[in-house]
Amino acid sequence: MYLVKMDFQKVIKWAEDLMWAKKKRHLNSLERAILERVWNNHKYQEIADEYRYSKDSVKTVAGNLWKLISEELDEKVNKTNFRAAMERYYICNSNVGDFAQSKFYESRISVYRESCHSDETPKNRSPTTPNSDNIQPEKRHDLTDAPKLRNFHNRTNELATLKQWILEENNRIVTITGLSGIGKTTLTRQLVEDIQDNFYCILWRSHRKFSTLNALKTNLIEFFSPPPPQQNLSIPDYLRFYRCLIILDDFQETLTTGEFVGTYIPEYKNYSKLIQEIARSPHNSCLLLLSWEKPTEIANLETENCHCHTLQLQGLGESATELSKVKNLTDKDRCLELINLYSGNPLWLNIIASTIEDLFNGSVAKFLSYSNPFLGDLKPILHEHYQRLSESEKLVMQWLANQEIGGNICSQPPEFSGNNDFLGAIQSLRKRGLIKKIVSKEGAVFTLEPVIKQYVKNQYNS
Ligand SMILES: Nc1ncnc2c1ncn2[C@@H]1O[C@H](COP(=O)(O)OP(=O)(O)OP(=O)(O)O)[C@@H](O)[C@H]1O
Ligand SMILES: [Mg+2]
Repeated sequence: MYLVKMDFQKVIKWAEDLMWAKKKRHLNSLERAILERVWNNHKYQEIADEYRYSKDSVKTVAGNLWKLISEELDEKVNKTNFRAAMERYYICNSNVGDFAQSKFYESRISVYRESCHSDETPKNRSPTTPNSDNIQPEKRHDLTDAPKLRNFHNRTNELATLKQWILEENNRIVTITGLSGIGKTTLTRQLVEDIQDNFYCILWRSHRKFSTLNALKTNLIEFFSPPPPQQNLSIPDYLRFYRCLIILDDFQETLTTGEFVGTYIPEYKNYSKLIQEIARSPHNSCLLLLSWEKPTEIANLETENCHCHTLQLQGLGESATELSKVKNLTDKDRCLELINLYSGNPLWLNIIASTIEDLFNGSVAKFLSYSNPFLGDLKPILHEHYQRLSESEKLVMQWLANQEIGGNICSQPPEFSGNNDFLGAIQSLRKRGLIKKIVSKEGAVFTLEPVIKQYVKNQYNS
């Protein structure tokens, strides 16, 4: 009779090598947990509870493991006979009790050989050859949908805040909101450049490319799990397996127009469920949403403190003068006025700088001598925002456009008397970043940025 005492560490090492040789990847945390727990007689339900997976997910992952091991051992292995099968295999293949010298150990060399089509010894292989002592997982970063890195000014504080939320506090969903052209995509591209080494998977997608949530989910799963994708694993499951950073740009495309901010277009309603799952399930990954507007459930999750944060991006401030250096502008001392007039929005400033070059031969002073902010090519951009508003928000915008120093929330315009839409509209416009609050000794007033004020006035006076 054999008295077998196997060290589980050797089994896991063997399994790791086997996985690498056959599938060119490492065991993920759930697979390691399954092997270890089943070795110690635990049930799938216990593993599911402990690691917060569904029992079905655990069963599926375990089933794939048993299939892999069965092929290698040339006998049918499952959760009931896993330990016995491994011990039997060890006994049959072990010569002198030195596990490292045994055929059990050699079997991994043979599977390497098979997969590498090479007779080299493990020692002589290239650095990519699996070596279970120092294997580093190969990172998968897909930035094909991301813009190129560009000249980038300032945003030091914003970058520091985002890094703190993502890398140190492990927030699961970070949303960056702001008007078109304010710099959400540019900032995020720089952020990804700075933090990419911390993530195993990075995937950048623009919502404009996906007509349905299912199309996006399929794309994500194909990316996470090289073919064939594992069945029954959800996106949060993958976010637990690997530390991932998923960037979803242009997320406002999922949100409805003509209503208060944040409600999904009916066919995108199921995004809400996915977002809640990602926020509530434990993992170290992060979903970065870039949007003009904040979805309602993100606001709710933030109040529940569910590892979510939002950065409402403001203009570039003084550092936007850097932008003027690449344009042929004169009267640089007036650039700060120009920046304030166009709210430090880099896209607006770039467009207006081209107009100044063209119509005023670069003279900022001459351009500023016009009393109203010139809109020109900004109109279609502003229109895109304006046509998303509800009727009551448009009324508030109209009211604010006619206020000299801003509107006081206590002096509700007559159009709103008798209903509560006024406060709702103010709140919704704040979330869209279309109105700003100025606090003084007398209290708070709400105002419009000069460009937006001009646009709204033009809407109603033309
Ligand atoms: N920090 C910055 N430094 C220099 N240029 C910038 C900066 N931020 C943005 N820009 C420039 O401003 C323009 C608009 O930026 P970006 O596309 O990032 O805006 P956005 O907020 O993503 O807009 P949208 O919501 O329409 O997608 C780009 O041409 C970009 O190069
Ligand atoms: Mg963008």
